[in-house]
Amino acid sequence: MMTKAEIVAQILNGRGRAPAAGGYAFAPSNIALCKYWGKRDEELNLPVTASLSISLGRLGSTTKLSLRPDSDVVRLDKKELAPDSPFARRIGAFLDLFRRDAGMYFEVEAVNTIPTAAGFASSASGFAALVTALDELFGWELDKRELSILARLGSGSACRSLHHGFVEWRAGTRPDGMDSYGERLDAAWPELRLGLLVITAAEKSMGSRPAMKRTIETCALYKSWPEKAAADLALLKKAIAEKDFHLLGATAESNALAMHATMIASWPPVVYWRPESLAAMQAIWAARANAVPVYFTMDAGPNLKLIFQAGDEAAVRGVFPDLKVVRPFDAEP
Ligand code: DP6
Repeated sequence: MMTKAEIVAQILNGRGRAPAAGGYAFAPSNIALCKYWGKRDEELNLPVTASLSISLGRLGSTTKLSLRPDSDVVRLDKKELAPDSPFARRIGAFLDLFRRDAGMYFEVEAVNTIPTAAGFASSASGFAALVTALDELFGWELDKRELSILARLGSGSACRSLHHGFVEWRAGTRPDGMDSYGERLDAAWPELRLGLLVITAAEKSMGSRPAMKRTIETCALYKSWPEKAAADLALLKKAIAEKDFHLLGATAESNALAMHATMIASWPPVVYWRPESLAAMQAIWAARANAVPVYFTMDAGPNLKLIFQAGDEAAVRGVFPDLKVVRPFDAEP
């Protein structure tokens, strides 16, 4: 098994120049329509299956980076994090991969444009923005594929946040993961809308990383997941190519529910649903029965992400007045 440091050395391969004064980058959040659930390599975050996501346009993370002489400082949404907080340690461990000498420290100023308090901010856009800012600071001039591989070392789903629009994370087969990265699909769907439905802003019970591991280790149903994910990936690509909204929504919803089924069938069980999550699902199913085309997806938490099209926004808001509506294709270059 290879280490992260070996992969970084292979990609950087002596590239770069004297550090610039700073680096700055934005990366969009992404929501998986076909989920990444399960690793074949925990060190390199190599997935068991391919996955497919949609980026959240202007919602994501900005990261400003500069060098400091004495110790790392990490600020998140304008608040300085305690050096021993889980997030600061995770960033520090990732930055260790890129220090040129023992006396090189970083000041990291991360701001989420997606409301952190609403429970939607994930590490994905954060690591994607961080590697892009590092590239600027050190002048590596890496391409998106290489940046995606570096971002994956921080968090798997981060490799899908280097692009806008629909992104496929190719699972790859190589042990070094050089063929496992996010790639933009050549497709736009400007009328597509995502609705962020906050069930609770409370800290989630368990992070996705240990939950994923427990599923692989204890869930008998997980054996069927790779086949389900492969079938859904093909259906989603067809739905995107043909702009078949019902196929897109139904496939994404079914994929999310199948992922949650594997969590629930793990031991000890992993259940992210709150009673209000189920109530929201039932309201969505009732809306569909009333001819409102709306579907949902859900990640490792209680909140729902609704999927619908611009023409149905008023009807969907009628059911969910507090919905935060995102236009994924608004920030297209
Ligand atoms: C449920 O990418 O956060 O959101 O690779 O361990 O950092 P690590 O996991 P992470 O897992 C995301 C899981 C998910 C599904 C998805 O985004 O595809």
